[in-house]
Amino acid sequence: MKAAVYTRHGPPEVVRVTEVPKPVPKDNEVLVRIHAATVCAADWRMRKAEPSLIRLMNGLLRPAKARILGIEFSGIVESVGSAVTAVSAGAEVFGTPGFQFGAHAEYICLPEDGVLAPKPANMPLEEAAAVLFGGFTALHFLRKANIQAGQNVLIYGASGSVGVFAVQLAKYFGARVTGVCSASNLELVRSLGAAEVLDYARQDFSSAGPVYDMVFDAAGYSGFSRSLRALKRGGYYVTVGGSGRILALLAGILRSAWTNATGVAKVFGGVAAGNREDQLFLKGLIDAGQLRTVIDRRYPLERIAEAHHYVEAGHKRGHVIILMDQPAT
Ligand SMILES: NC(=O)c1ccc[n+]([C@@H]2O[C@H](COP(=O)([O-])OP(=O)(O)OC[C@H]3O[C@@H](n4cnc5c(N)ncnc54)[C@H](OP(=O)(O)O)[C@@H]3O)[C@@H](O)[C@H]2O)c1
Repeated sequence: MKAAVYTRHGPPEVVRVTEVPKPVPKDNEVLVRIHAATVCAADWRMRKAEPSLIRLMNGLLRPAKARILGIEFSGIVESVGSAVTAVSAGAEVFGTPGFQFGAHAEYICLPEDGVLAPKPANMPLEEAAAVLFGGFTALHFLRKANIQAGQNVLIYGASGSVGVFAVQLAKYFGARVTGVCSASNLELVRSLGAAEVLDYARQDFSSAGPVYDMVFDAAGYSGFSRSLRALKRGGYYVTVGGSGRILALLAGILRSAWTNATGVAKVFGGVAAGNREDQLFLKGLIDAGQLRTVIDRRYPLERIAEAHHYVEAGHKRGHVIILMDQPAT
Protein backbone atom coordinates (compact mmCIF):
# COMPACT_ATOMS: atom_id res chain seq x y z
CA MET A 1 0.00 0.00 0.00
CA LYS A 2 1.00 3.66 -0.30
CA ALA A 3 1.93 5.52 2.88
CA ALA A 4 3.63 8.78 3.85
CA VAL A 5 6.75 7.69 5.75
CA TYR A 6 9.34 9.77 7.58
CA THR A 7 12.63 8.26 8.70
CA ARG A 8 14.26 11.37 10.16
CA HIS A 9 13.11 14.51 11.93
CA GLY A 10 13.07 17.67 9.87
CA PRO A 11 11.14 19.85 7.40
CA PRO A 12 8.03 18.66 5.52
CA GLU A 13 10.19 17.18 2.75
CA VAL A 14 11.36 14.37 5.07
CA VAL A 15 7.89 12.88 4.57
CA ARG A 16 7.96 10.66 1.45
CA VAL A 17 5.14 8.72 -0.13
CA THR A 18 6.32 5.17 -0.64
CA GLU A 19 5.15 1.53 -0.82
CA VAL A 20 4.98 -0.35 2.50
CA PRO A 21 3.42 -3.72 3.38
CA LYS A 22 -0.36 -3.63 3.75
CA PRO A 23 -1.26 -4.43 7.39
CA VAL A 24 -3.01 -7.72 8.16
CA PRO A 25 -5.62 -7.61 10.94
CA LYS A 26 -5.00 -9.78 14.01
CA ASP A 27 -7.93 -11.81 15.40
CA ASN A 28 -9.27 -8.83 17.39
CA GLU A 29 -8.53 -6.17 14.77
CA VAL A 30 -10.38 -4.29 12.05
CA LEU A 31 -8.69 -3.38 8.74
CA VAL A 32 -9.89 0.00 7.45
CA ARG A 33 -9.32 1.35 3.94
CA ILE A 34 -8.69 5.00 4.74
CA HIS A 35 -10.70 7.57 2.83
CA ALA A 36 -9.44 10.74 4.57
CA ALA A 37 -7.03 11.69 7.35
CA THR A 38 -6.06 15.06 8.76
CA VAL A 39 -2.65 16.68 8.87
CA CYS A 40 -2.65 18.44 12.24
CA ALA A 41 -0.39 20.02 14.85
CA ALA A 42 0.48 16.60 16.28
CA ASP A 43 1.87 15.56 12.88
CA TRP A 44 4.22 18.50 12.33
CA ARG A 45 5.33 18.44 15.96
CA MET A 46 6.22 14.73 15.67
CA ARG A 47 7.97 15.29 12.34
CA LYS A 48 10.09 18.14 13.71
CA ALA A 49 10.45 16.64 17.19
CA GLU A 50 9.17 19.92 18.59
CA PRO A 51 9.13 20.01 21.57
CA SER A 52 12.27 17.91 21.79
CA LEU A 53 10.66 15.84 24.57
CA ILE A 54 8.93 14.02 21.67
CA ARG A 55 12.24 12.26 21.06
CA LEU A 56 11.77 10.41 24.36
CA MET A 57 8.50 9.06 23.00
CA ASN A 58 9.40 8.25 19.41
CA GLY A 59 13.15 7.73 19.20
CA LEU A 60 16.06 9.89 20.37
CA LEU A 61 17.94 10.21 17.09
CA ARG A 62 15.29 9.37 14.51
CA PRO A 63 11.63 8.28 14.48
CA ALA A 64 11.63 4.71 15.73
CA LYS A 65 8.10 3.68 16.68
CA ALA A 66 5.74 5.81 14.58
CA ARG A 67 7.13 6.35 11.07
CA ILE A 68 3.76 6.89 9.45
CA LEU A 69 2.03 9.96 10.90
CA GLY A 70 -1.71 10.70 10.94
CA ILE A 71 -3.71 10.68 14.18
CA GLU A 72 -7.33 10.64 12.92
CA PHE A 73 -9.10 9.19 9.91
CA SER A 74 -12.29 8.04 8.29
CA GLY A 75 -12.74 5.10 5.95
CA ILE A 76 -14.46 1.86 5.08
CA VAL A 77 -13.93 -1.44 6.86
CA GLU A 78 -12.20 -3.79 4.42
CA SER A 79 -12.03 -6.94 6.56
CA VAL A 80 -12.06 -8.02 10.21
CA GLY A 81 -10.14 -10.53 12.35
CA SER A 82 -11.72 -13.87 13.29
CA ALA A 83 -12.69 -12.74 16.82
CA VAL A 84 -14.33 -9.46 15.77
CA THR A 85 -18.10 -9.47 16.21
CA ALA A 86 -19.33 -5.87 16.40
CA VAL A 87 -17.92 -4.52 13.12
CA SER A 88 -18.28 -5.88 9.61
CA ALA A 89 -16.79 -5.23 6.20
CA GLY A 90 -18.31 -2.30 4.33
CA ALA A 91 -19.07 -0.17 7.42
CA GLU A 92 -18.18 3.53 7.16
CA VAL A 93 -16.15 4.41 10.26
CA PHE A 94 -14.06 7.12 11.86
CA GLY A 95 -11.35 6.66 14.45
CA THR A 96 -7.96 7.41 15.92
CA PRO A 97 -4.91 5.25 16.58
CA GLY A 98 -3.89 7.83 19.24
CA PHE A 99 -0.17 8.38 19.65
CA GLN A 100 0.61 5.25 17.65
CA PHE A 101 -0.31 7.35 14.57
CA GLY A 102 -0.39 5.60 11.16
CA ALA A 103 -3.36 7.20 9.36
CA HIS A 104 -1.35 8.73 6.48
CA ALA A 105 -1.65 5.47 4.61
CA GLU A 106 -4.11 3.59 2.46
CA TYR A 107 -4.91 1.10 5.24
CA ILE A 108 -4.77 0.92 9.02
CA CYS A 109 -5.58 -1.77 11.61
CA LEU A 110 -7.25 -0.92 14.92
CA PRO A 111 -8.47 -3.22 17.69
CA GLU A 112 -12.23 -3.74 17.65
CA ASP A 113 -12.46 -2.07 21.07
CA GLY A 114 -10.23 0.86 20.03
CA VAL A 115 -11.46 4.37 19.25
CA LEU A 116 -13.39 3.31 16.16
CA ALA A 117 -17.10 3.86 15.52
CA PRO A 118 -19.61 4.22 12.69
CA LYS A 119 -19.28 7.68 11.19
CA PRO A 120 -21.95 10.27 12.13
CA ALA A 121 -24.96 9.62 9.90
CA ASN A 122 -25.37 13.15 8.59
CA MET A 123 -21.70 13.94 7.99
CA PRO A 124 -19.79 13.20 4.76
CA LEU A 125 -17.10 10.55 5.20
CA GLU A 126 -14.26 12.99 4.49
CA GLU A 127 -15.43 15.40 7.23
CA ALA A 128 -15.67 12.59 9.77
CA ALA A 129 -11.86 12.32 9.59
CA ALA A 130 -11.59 15.74 11.25
CA VAL A 131 -13.49 15.28 14.51
CA LEU A 132 -11.39 13.48 17.07
CA PHE A 133 -8.09 15.37 17.46
CA GLY A 134 -9.68 18.78 18.00
CA GLY A 135 -12.88 17.38 19.50
CA PHE A 136 -11.15 15.23 22.13
CA THR A 137 -8.78 18.05 23.07
CA ALA A 138 -11.54 20.64 23.48
CA LEU A 139 -13.78 18.24 25.40
CA HIS A 140 -10.98 17.06 27.69
CA PHE A 141 -9.92 20.55 28.76
CA LEU A 142 -13.43 22.06 29.01
CA ARG A 143 -14.47 19.22 31.30
CA LYS A 144 -11.27 19.46 33.33
CA ALA A 145 -12.02 23.16 33.82
CA ASN A 146 -15.47 22.18 35.07
CA ILE A 147 -17.38 24.18 32.46
CA GLN A 148 -20.83 25.28 33.66
CA ALA A 149 -23.89 26.82 32.03
CA GLY A 150 -23.99 30.60 32.34
CA GLN A 151 -20.22 31.06 32.49
CA ASN A 152 -18.31 33.61 30.44
CA VAL A 153 -15.71 31.65 28.49
CA LEU A 154 -13.02 33.10 26.24
CA ILE A 155 -11.57 30.83 23.55
CA TYR A 156 -8.24 32.17 22.24
CA GLY A 157 -7.29 30.61 18.89
CA ALA A 158 -10.96 29.97 18.10
CA SER A 159 -10.48 29.13 14.42
CA GLY A 160 -7.98 26.25 14.64
CA SER A 161 -8.58 22.50 15.01
CA VAL A 162 -9.04 22.74 18.77
CA GLY A 163 -10.68 26.17 18.72
CA VAL A 164 -13.56 25.35 16.36
CA PHE A 165 -14.61 22.52 18.69
CA ALA A 166 -13.94 24.47 21.89
CA VAL A 167 -16.29 27.26 20.74
CA GLN A 168 -19.09 24.85 19.82
CA LEU A 169 -18.70 22.62 22.89
CA ALA A 170 -18.52 25.56 25.31
CA LYS A 171 -21.73 26.90 23.73
CA TYR A 172 -23.31 23.43 23.97
CA PHE A 173 -22.46 23.33 27.70
CA GLY A 174 -24.34 26.60 28.10
CA ALA A 175 -21.49 29.11 28.31
CA ARG A 176 -21.48 32.56 26.73
CA VAL A 177 -18.51 32.34 24.37
CA THR A 178 -16.10 35.03 23.25
CA GLY A 179 -13.84 33.88 20.42
CA VAL A 180 -10.48 35.44 19.63
CA CYS A 181 -9.02 34.99 16.14
CA SER A 182 -7.69 36.96 13.18
CA ALA A 183 -9.94 39.32 11.19
CA SER A 184 -10.46 36.85 8.35
CA ASN A 185 -11.95 34.26 10.72
CA LEU A 186 -14.35 36.46 12.71
CA GLU A 187 -17.42 35.41 10.70
CA LEU A 188 -16.49 31.71 10.89
CA VAL A 189 -16.14 31.85 14.69
CA ARG A 190 -19.42 33.75 15.02
CA SER A 191 -21.12 31.09 12.88
CA LEU A 192 -19.87 28.40 15.29
CA GLY A 193 -21.81 30.02 18.12
CA ALA A 194 -19.59 32.69 19.67
CA ALA A 195 -21.67 35.53 21.11
CA GLU A 196 -18.75 37.91 20.66
CA VAL A 197 -15.66 37.78 18.45
CA LEU A 198 -12.42 39.72 18.87
CA ASP A 199 -9.66 40.32 16.35
CA TYR A 200 -6.41 39.60 18.19
CA ALA A 201 -4.48 42.09 16.06
CA ARG A 202 -6.76 45.01 16.99
CA GLN A 203 -8.50 44.20 20.28
CA ASP A 204 -7.13 43.33 23.72
CA PHE A 205 -9.43 40.80 25.39
CA SER A 206 -8.17 41.83 28.84
CA SER A 207 -9.18 45.49 28.49
CA ALA A 208 -12.59 44.89 30.11
CA GLY A 209 -10.91 43.57 33.28
CA PRO A 210 -11.73 40.33 35.13
CA VAL A 211 -14.93 39.26 33.35
CA TYR A 212 -14.24 35.65 32.30
CA ASP A 213 -14.77 32.44 34.28
CA MET A 214 -12.41 30.65 31.90
CA VAL A 215 -9.70 31.64 29.45
CA PHE A 216 -9.09 28.67 27.17
CA ASP A 217 -5.93 29.26 25.14
CA ALA A 218 -5.97 26.92 22.15
CA ALA A 219 -3.22 28.83 20.35
CA GLY A 220 -0.50 29.48 22.92
CA TYR A 221 -0.50 33.24 22.41
CA SER A 222 -2.96 34.56 25.03
CA GLY A 223 -0.16 35.53 27.44
CA PHE A 224 -0.06 34.55 31.11
CA SER A 225 -0.40 38.01 32.73
CA ARG A 226 -2.98 39.22 30.23
CA SER A 227 -5.08 36.07 30.73
CA LEU A 228 -5.02 36.43 34.50
CA ARG A 229 -6.08 40.10 34.15
CA ALA A 230 -9.14 38.94 32.19
CA LEU A 231 -10.09 36.16 34.64
CA LYS A 232 -12.42 36.45 37.62
CA ARG A 233 -10.67 35.46 40.85
CA GLY A 234 -10.48 31.67 41.07
CA GLY A 235 -11.31 31.25 37.37
CA TYR A 236 -9.69 28.70 35.07
CA TYR A 237 -6.80 29.43 32.72
CA VAL A 238 -6.41 26.48 30.35
CA THR A 239 -3.22 26.37 28.29
CA VAL A 240 -3.68 23.88 25.48
CA GLY A 241 -1.20 25.24 22.95
CA GLY A 242 2.28 26.68 23.34
CA SER A 243 5.76 26.32 21.99
CA GLY A 244 6.53 23.32 24.20
CA ARG A 245 10.11 24.59 24.65
CA ILE A 246 11.64 23.35 27.89
CA LEU A 247 12.33 26.82 29.35
CA ALA A 248 8.80 27.99 28.53
CA LEU A 249 7.40 24.79 30.07
CA LEU A 250 9.41 25.26 33.26
CA ALA A 251 8.42 28.92 33.55
CA GLY A 252 4.78 27.91 32.98
CA ILE A 253 4.95 25.24 35.69
CA LEU A 254 6.39 27.70 38.23
CA ARG A 255 3.91 30.49 37.42
CA SER A 256 1.01 28.02 37.46
CA ALA A 257 2.05 26.57 40.83
CA TRP A 258 2.27 30.06 42.33
CA THR A 259 -1.05 31.17 40.83
CA ASN A 260 -2.81 28.00 41.97
CA ALA A 261 -1.33 28.27 45.48
CA THR A 262 -2.44 31.88 45.94
CA GLY A 263 -5.98 31.11 44.71
CA VAL A 264 -5.81 33.84 42.04
CA ALA A 265 -6.73 31.32 39.33
CA LYS A 266 -6.60 27.63 38.55
CA VAL A 267 -4.05 27.13 35.78
CA PHE A 268 -3.38 23.91 33.95
CA GLY A 269 -2.29 22.36 30.67
CA GLY A 270 -0.97 18.91 29.87
CA VAL A 271 -1.83 16.39 27.20
CA ALA A 272 -5.45 15.73 26.21
CA ALA A 273 -6.93 12.25 26.14
CA GLY A 274 -10.07 10.77 24.67
CA ASN A 275 -11.76 7.37 24.53
CA ARG A 276 -14.58 5.52 22.78
CA GLU A 277 -17.14 7.03 25.17
CA ASP A 278 -15.97 10.54 24.27
CA GLN A 279 -16.07 9.60 20.58
CA LEU A 280 -19.69 8.49 20.90
CA PHE A 281 -20.52 11.68 22.81
CA LEU A 282 -19.13 13.81 19.94
CA LYS A 283 -20.85 11.62 17.35
CA GLY A 284 -24.16 12.09 19.20
CA LEU A 285 -23.77 15.87 19.07
CA ILE A 286 -22.99 15.73 15.35
CA ASP A 287 -25.98 13.47 14.72
CA ALA A 288 -28.14 15.96 16.64
CA GLY A 289 -26.87 18.85 14.50
CA GLN A 290 -25.11 20.50 17.46
CA LEU A 291 -21.53 20.06 16.32
CA ARG A 292 -19.81 20.34 12.97
CA THR A 293 -16.32 20.34 11.63
CA VAL A 294 -14.62 22.86 9.37
CA ILE A 295 -12.49 21.75 6.42
CA ASP A 296 -10.02 24.32 5.11
CA ARG A 297 -7.98 22.49 2.43
CA ARG A 298 -7.85 19.04 0.85
CA TYR A 299 -4.69 17.44 -0.58
CA PRO A 300 -3.98 14.13 -2.31
CA LEU A 301 -1.53 11.87 -0.44
CA GLU A 302 1.21 12.62 -2.97
CA ARG A 303 1.15 16.30 -1.93
CA ILE A 304 1.31 15.66 1.81
CA ALA A 305 4.52 17.69 2.22
CA GLU A 306 2.61 20.79 1.02
CA ALA A 307 -0.07 20.05 3.58
CA HIS A 308 2.61 19.86 6.31
CA HIS A 309 3.96 23.27 5.24
CA TYR A 310 0.51 24.85 5.36
CA VAL A 311 -0.45 23.32 8.72
CA GLU A 312 2.86 24.16 10.38
CA ALA A 313 2.41 27.83 9.44
CA GLY A 314 -0.29 27.85 12.15
CA HIS A 315 -3.13 29.68 10.39
CA LYS A 316 -5.42 27.01 8.99
CA ARG A 317 -9.17 27.37 9.47
CA GLY A 318 -10.29 24.21 11.23
CA HIS A 319 -8.75 21.25 9.48
CA VAL A 320 -6.62 20.13 6.56
CA ILE A 321 -7.31 16.70 5.15
CA ILE A 322 -5.53 14.21 2.95
CA LEU A 323 -7.81 12.34 0.56
CA MET A 324 -6.35 8.91 -0.21
CA ASP A 325 -8.29 8.32 -3.42
CA GLN A 326 -7.82 11.78 -4.91
CA PRO A 327 -5.40 11.73 -7.85
CA ALA A 328 -2.43 14.12 -7.61
CA THR A 329 -2.94 17.12 -9.91
N1 LIG B 1 -2.23 19.82 25.01
C1 LIG B 1 -2.74 19.01 24.09
O1 LIG B 1 -3.08 17.86 24.37
C2 LIG B 1 -2.91 19.53 22.71
C3 LIG B 1 -3.80 18.88 21.83
C4 LIG B 1 -3.99 19.43 20.58
C5 LIG B 1 -3.28 20.56 20.19
N2 LIG B 1 -2.39 21.11 21.05
C6 LIG B 1 -1.64 22.32 20.67
O2 LIG B 1 -2.59 23.37 20.62
C7 LIG B 1 -2.18 24.31 19.63
C8 LIG B 1 -3.32 24.53 18.67
O3 LIG B 1 -3.61 23.34 17.98
P1 LIG B 1 -4.56 23.38 16.73
O4 LIG B 1 -4.55 22.01 16.18
O5 LIG B 1 -5.84 24.02 17.06
O6 LIG B 1 -3.71 24.34 15.75
P2 LIG B 1 -4.17 25.08 14.43
O7 LIG B 1 -5.34 24.39 13.85
O8 LIG B 1 -2.95 25.27 13.62
O9 LIG B 1 -4.68 26.51 14.94
C9 LIG B 1 -3.79 27.47 15.41
C10 LIG B 1 -4.59 28.67 15.90
O10 LIG B 1 -3.67 29.65 16.39
C11 LIG B 1 -4.08 30.93 15.93
N3 LIG B 1 -2.92 31.80 15.85
C12 LIG B 1 -1.83 31.66 15.06
N4 LIG B 1 -0.96 32.66 15.28
C13 LIG B 1 -1.54 33.46 16.23
C14 LIG B 1 -1.12 34.64 16.89
N5 LIG B 1 0.06 35.23 16.63
N6 LIG B 1 -1.94 35.16 17.82
C15 LIG B 1 -3.13 34.58 18.10
N7 LIG B 1 -3.58 33.45 17.52
C16 LIG B 1 -2.78 32.90 16.59
C17 LIG B 1 -4.70 30.69 14.57
O11 LIG B 1 -5.64 31.70 14.27
P3 LIG B 1 -5.52 32.63 12.97
O12 LIG B 1 -5.33 31.73 11.79
O13 LIG B 1 -6.83 33.34 12.96
O14 LIG B 1 -4.32 33.51 13.19
C18 LIG B 1 -5.40 29.33 14.80
O15 LIG B 1 -6.69 29.54 15.32
C19 LIG B 1 -0.91 23.74 18.99
O16 LIG B 1 0.20 24.32 19.63
C20 LIG B 1 -1.00 22.26 19.32
O17 LIG B 1 0.27 21.67 19.34
C21 LIG B 1 -2.20 20.63 22.30
